[in-house]
Amino acid sequence: MKLTIPDPALVLLVGPSGAGKSTFARAHFGPTEIVASDAMRQMLSNDPADQGASAEAFALLSILINGRLRRRLMTVVDATSLRAANRTRYRRLAARYGLPVVAVAFDLPARTFHARNRGRDGRVVEDEVVDWQIEQMARALSAMPSEGYAALHVLRDPDTLGLVELVRQPA
Ligand code: CTP
Ligand code: MG
Repeated sequence: MKLTIPDPALVLLVGPSGAGKSTFARAHFGPTEIVASDAMRQMLSNDPADQGASAEAFALLSILINGRLRRRLMTVVDATSLRAANRTRYRRLAARYGLPVVAVAFDLPARTFHARNRGRDGRVVEDEVVDWQIEQMARALSAMPSEGYAALHVLRDPDTLGLVELVRQPA
């Protein structure tokens, strides 16, 4: 499956924990193109899961996104982006520089989110938190079509996720 993304763009990966957002980002984008909330939490507190560091982590994330978009550089936000308010904040940053925003939503079966989350080494998110995120995901999926993205790609098949080919279209 081919997924076309304008370059430069702001790319939002939207999905619960275990969706494979970070895996997808690493497969298709360079390390400095990816701005991740976990990496910011880790820089702040040594712990990528430290929710107490979230406010500062998102402030840093905004500074990075703004700085990169101002330079017209491809930027991928690796965070759950399940909250409409967060997605709006990112879209406003891109609008400031007239850049398109592309959303990639991971609409996978609930069992996939749970299985991948339990199976990973290191940071494991509690089942209850993943269930809550799955509910938020349903809301995000119904809201996103009218949020005004240049493109909204919804990935539904966990088995073909690894076969996605990303095509960059120079703006
Ligand atoms: N994984 C997998 N197959 C994929 C994608 C991911 O088996 N196609 C596995 C990864 O190896 C990892 C787990 O699923 O062990 C979670 O993937 P990750 O990319 O870390 O998920 P995120 O969406 O980034 O989760 P979080 O929001 O918690 O960072
Ligand atoms: Mg991740």
